[in-house]
Amino acid sequence: MISPAVRLRPARPDDAEPVAQLHARSWRLHYRGAYSDAYLDGDVVADRLAVWSARLAEAGPGAETFVAEDDGGLVGFVHVVFDHDERWGSLVDNLHVAQERRRGGVGALLLTRAAEAVAERAAGRGLYLWVQEQNTAARGFYRAMGGAQVETVAIAPPGGVPEWLNGSPRKLQMAWEDVKSCEARVS
Ligand SMILES: CC(C)(COP(=O)(O)OP(=O)(O)OC[C@H]1O[C@@H](n2cnc3c(N)ncnc32)[C@H](O)[C@@H]1OP(=O)(O)O)[C@@H](O)C(=O)NCCC(=O)NCCS
Repeated sequence: MISPAVRLRPARPDDAEPVAQLHARSWRLHYRGAYSDAYLDGDVVADRLAVWSARLAEAGPGAETFVAEDDGGLVGFVHVVFDHDERWGSLVDNLHVAQERRRGGVGALLLTRAAEAVAERAAGRGLYLWVQEQNTAARGFYRAMGGAQVETVAIAPPGGVPEWLNGSPRKLQMAWEDVKSCEARVS
């Protein structure tokens, strides 16, 4: 189902604050278990704000961020890096939808927009991303979008601090050989 009244547009530098807030909220909800509580309950907002302020201030032709918004403000975002890997192509680095708007088609809209941007602007046709093994909801979403699981590797500790990981969590690589096949499947 497509959510009503959701608009997509490229992100601007002044989106850094709301994007960082949504990103941190989403990590705290969905990365708990893999990342330690000490890390997630710490300075995650400041960390994300530094990342997004730099990214959106230095936006260039090599990457794009799209935001989804409704009349109440930001409801999701996606960031894609064009031609990131020789074998796998462009990288979807972040895709997050506000908790209250999940399962309303916003994620599919954002990922489809990122795939369109790859088709328009990247040299290669491939698209890939990493998803935490424990994140079964997102894995279901990527499967529904036609992604294939191609690799499983250990997650690196955030900030390079081993104590900020719980155990030895893993992440899965999902890939589309051709971005044209990245679209919502009718279930
Ligand atoms: C993963 C995420 C981006 C999906 O966005 P969304 O807007 O909720 O997903 P959509 O409504 O567009 O779903 C499209 C299809 O994907 C599948 N899907 C979505 N969520 C699913 C879930 N929890 N379990 C199984 N399949 C799911 C369904 O087939 C769905 O179609 P349907 O609702 O008509 O059945 C969103 O849930 C999210 O932000 N999660 C938290 C952050 C996160 O994990 N990001 C990914 C990091 S790698």
